[in-house]
Amino acid sequence: MPTALEVRDYSQFRVVPRTPVIGGWIEGCNLADLDEAGLAELREALWEYGVLFGRGQNLSFDAMKRVALAYGDQLEKHTFAPTKADEGHPEVVVIERLNTDQTKATTDLWHHDVLSRQHPNIMSILQAEQVPFGADTMWASMTAAYERLPHALKLLFSNVEIEHDSLYLMMRHDFGDPTIIEKIVANREHAVHPAIVRHHATGKPCLVVGDAYVQRIKGFETIQSEALIKLANEMSKIPEIQVRHQWEAGDVAIWDNFGTSHYGVSADIGKSLRRLHRVASWSERVRPQPYFVQPLAEAAE
Ligand SMILES: [Fe+2]
Repeated sequence: MPTALEVRDYSQFRVVPRTPVIGGWIEGCNLADLDEAGLAELREALWEYGVLFGRGQNLSFDAMKRVALAYGDQLEKHTFAPTKADEGHPEVVVIERLNTDQTKATTDLWHHDVLSRQHPNIMSILQAEQVPFGADTMWASMTAAYERLPHALKLLFSNVEIEHDSLYLMMRHDFGDPTIIEKIVANREHAVHPAIVRHHATGKPCLVVGDAYVQRIKGFETIQSEALIKLANEMSKIPEIQVRHQWEAGDVAIWDNFGTSHYGVSADIGKSLRRLHRVASWSERVRPQPYFVQPLAEAAE
């Protein structure tokens, strides 16, 4: 098993682990004040801890974008989620839910963001404006998920590819809002990625299947594909590889979109507003690559 996460002092901040496996508090800095060297350390820290959390950061949208650009040279422009385009920030996605009869939670799925793209997001930075009690967010280490698979399943998943499709996000989960469905149909995205991805920065294997955009295991009959997708998705649910964040206004979470999956806890929020803002980055240079696993007999030689 990999060694447990420890406290680490970087030159412009410190990271204190939240669990032995995933998650760290960033202490001693406001992310807006990091210089280029500090942002390089923040990159290093994210690959180490999987998710970084900062209390009371209250970043401007420009500061969130600057952090995101430390990881990828392109900012995500979402094709169907609401954004802050009207305020000059089309790259800022508004994640919002007012619990009425017409709305449905759309975040309570274990998933990696936008796997339906050829170049999915490398990371996201999410900041809370208002989050009701109980509407937490959870992350799971997909490197740890891979490590917990028996060798035969590592081998199996390393030999398959997953078809992801933005239509399936709607069709599997019945989001129910016809206006969103129309936008998704108009901008339909489809991509095929390995189920075990070799992390672009660390080289470590990550289980990248998910329960949002996933359509099928390429070339498999539906009954086999669904069974294996379910098996892969069960891995995110193991408490030992998870971290859960209870939001306060102004908190920030930054996550590795390949090395972790996440789940927005729906919660009974009554008529309360849940609103967060997200900026994500990607790069044409970062496309999920396969991680090759050797059969045991060969590995032993
Ligand atoms: Fe998400």
